[in-house]
Amino acid sequence: MSELGWGHHYIAVEPTHFRIDYVINPFMDTAVQPDGPTAWRQWHEMVETLRGLGARVDVLPQRSDAPDMVYAMNLGLGVVAEDGTPQVVLSHMRYPQRRMETDSAQPWFAERGFATSYVGRDGVGAHLEAGDAFAFGDALVVGYGPRTEELALKHLAADLGIRVRGLRITHPGMYHLDLAFCPLDERRAIVCPAALDEESAAALLALVPEPLVLTEEEALTTFAANSIVVGRTVVMPACPDRVRAQLEEWGFDVVVVDVSEFHKGGGSIRCLTNPVDVRIGRDLPSVPNGEVVLPPV
Ligand code: ARG
Repeated sequence: MSELGWGHHYIAVEPTHFRIDYVINPFMDTAVQPDGPTAWRQWHEMVETLRGLGARVDVLPQRSDAPDMVYAMNLGLGVVAEDGTPQVVLSHMRYPQRRMETDSAQPWFAERGFATSYVGRDGVGAHLEAGDAFAFGDALVVGYGPRTEELALKHLAADLGIRVRGLRITHPGMYHLDLAFCPLDERRAIVCPAALDEESAAALLALVPEPLVLTEEEALTTFAANSIVVGRTVVMPACPDRVRAQLEEWGFDVVVVDVSEFHKGGGSIRCLTNPVDVRIGRDLPSVPNGEVVLPPV
């Protein structure tokens, strides 16, 4: 089965200032703080696991005033243009508590040769959070509702010259698509349709020829959809037996890395890492002027 072309180069943010200072999702509770040394150890074990699988992981420092910056997936959407130029569309976070993260991410990316852009910023224009966006099949699949706004899909499609397929997220606990969707290879993905409205759940299932469906409870209690794939290895925060049996039957290896301290902020392995090697023309068909496909209302 053909592997994903991407997923071999990530950025991540070392958790030097990880805390729960505010509440912007149902997992967060300022009375339940992460244990610093445990979080540090879990994060390093995750990064070493990825490197051990042959992935490159580049590390950004964390701002002291940005406790959620550890969830690097939300800094921006990285793609490599057809001419080979790495690009990043920086996020425009829904909540002001996270907006300063991109002020630090922008120069970091620019210094490393990425062309940087925005679809909205400083509270003006469309919200985009990159944890909502995944290359899969013939499009960039983008969840919208709790964080990303529908208008951002149009900008992404036009600015990048790609097809964008929107899915409406309605579940408050799966506020980013990466809590409910994990591409595994070209035909398979972990999906939790309970995150979406009925039409979008049907649209997602129609996009994935061989879905591995999680129940709402599995997705919320194990974060199993918030996993990443390096070649044929799925790196997961937890793996229910039923899920493991299906993955192994499909020929994947499963590696479980405990990142439970980060679940206190509402994110897991996918949220802690951000792939920057999705190529337009290879992993995402190029569609001049872009195109947005939305599920029926
Ligand atoms: N506390 C963070 C927030 O609510 C968690 C982000 C999780 N990241 C993700 N890609 N789902 O924004």
